Amino acid sequence: MTAWTDHRTFLRRALRRPALIGAPAPTGPTLAAAIAAVLPATGAPTVVELGAGTGALAPAISARLAPGARYLAVELDAELVAHLRHRMPWLHVLQGDAADLPALLANAGVGPVDAIVSSLPWTLVPPQQQREMLAGIAATLAPSGVFTTITTLTALPTRVRELRRSLEATFGEVVATEPVWRNVPPSRLFVCRGPRAC
Ligand SMILES: C[S@@+](CC[C@H](N)C(=O)[O-])C[C@H]1O[C@@H](n2cnc3c(N)ncnc32)[C@H](O)[C@@H]1O
Repeated sequence: MTAWTDHRTFLRRALRRPALIGAPAPTGPTLAAAIAAVLPATGAPTVVELGAGTGALAPAISARLAPGARYLAVELDAELVAHLRHRMPWLHVLQGDAADLPALLANAGVGPVDAIVSSLPWTLVPPQQQREMLAGIAATLAPSGVFTTITTLTALPTRVRELRRSLEATFGEVVATEPVWRNVPPSRLFVCRGPRAC
C-alpha cells in the first residue's frame, strides 16, 4: 500500500460519508508536524488520536514520541479501521465513536491520558453534541494534559466561533495557532489546556 492508496481510500470514504469525514484529503505533512510538535517528546506519555482516518498524522506522532510512550488511535468508520490495521499494524486502533471515549479507553485498560489530538470535523457537529464530546475528552485527560484539534480555515466562521466557545467552556486555556497554509485545506490548531471538571 502506498500514499496513493491512502488518498484513494480517504476520497472514497469522504464521498460516501461526507459529514463524517469532513475533509477532501488526508492531512499533509506540514500540519501533521505542527500537531505532533505539541506532544511531549520525552517520558512515557499516553497519547490518543481521535479520527485517525488513513493514518496521515501517525508517522509524525510516532516519530515525536519517545520509546516508552503509548499511542492509541480512535476511528469510527469500519473501512478506515481496516485500512489502518492493514497499513499500520504497529498502531493500536480502537474502533468506536469519539463520543464514547471514556468507555473506549476504560475497555482498553487505559488510564488518564497526557495528550489527545483530533482532526474530527467539529464544525459539522452541533454545539450541544460538541460539548458532550468535549466533556468526555476533558474527563479522560490528566490535569496537566493537552488537547489539540485541527480546524480548517474553510469552515464557516460562525461554526468556528461556536467551536471556540465550546472549547473555552471545557478548558481553562484555548490558544489558536497561526494558520498552516501548506495544507489542503489550510488549517490552524486550537491547543487547549486545563481541562475543567464538567
Ligand atoms: C478530517 S478526517 C481526518 C483523518 C486523519 N486524521 C487525517 O488527518 O487525515 C476525520 C476523521 O475522523 C473520523 N471521525 C469523524 N467523527 C468521528 C467520531 N465521532 N469518532 C471517531 N472518528 C470519527 C472520520 O471517519 C475521519 O476518519
